[in-house]
Amino acid sequence: MRIIEPSDAREFRKYYDLRWRILRAPWNQPRGSERDAQDGHSTHLMLVGRGGKALAVGRLHFNTIREAQIRYMAVEAPHQRSGLGSRLLGALEDRARALGAAVVVLDARETALGFYRKHGYNVRGSGHMLFNSIAHVRMIKRIGGSGERGS
Ligand SMILES: CC(C)(COP(=O)(O)OP(=O)(O)OC[C@H]1O[C@@H](n2cnc3c(N)ncnc32)[C@H](O)[C@@H]1OP(=O)(O)O)[C@@H](O)C(=O)NCCC(=O)NCCS
Repeated sequence: MRIIEPSDAREFRKYYDLRWRILRAPWNQPRGSERDAQDGHSTHLMLVGRGGKALAVGRLHFNTIREAQIRYMAVEAPHQRSGLGSRLLGALEDRARALGAAVVVLDARETALGFYRKHGYNVRGSGHMLFNSIAHVRMIKRIGGSGERGS
């Protein structure tokens, strides 16, 4: 098992397929709904197993020079709760730190709140509502020394 940055069409197909199956298909959302305009300038990480099978995915982008945001964390259903999400989250945070982030923010689904709390994220307020049914909570974690700065 290893973490890669998808780099060719085949890897990106697997990456978006897992994102769609876990985060969109259960709410009857069409393929394509799993993508957004920031995908083109984000860091994408994918944990792959034997034969290059996608097991977990997640994305990192920057809101400001100091504030990174993690989105679209998804672990293949049979592999959830076996540490893969933690591994991927750690890798995304490492990348955020290496790129100069002082804080990481994310909008956690209420059902995943416990996961992010375990990794040191604190609730900062309410986040957006997705498909009129999935409530999100804005969370934040300080990962660098220079503090949160707006811009
Ligand atoms: C949420 C998700 C990314 C977590 O990844 P994971 O691989 O299942 O989590 P891990 O096995 O690394 O769990 C780490 C710890 O968090 C806990 N945890 C995991 N998911 C949790 C959840 N939904 N609620 C509360 N705690 C959770 C685990 O019990 C574990 O605790 P432990 O260390 O005491 O055993 C994954 O379950 C997932 O893809 N869920 C469906 C999609 C989703 O909700 N994505 C997040 C959108 S914001």
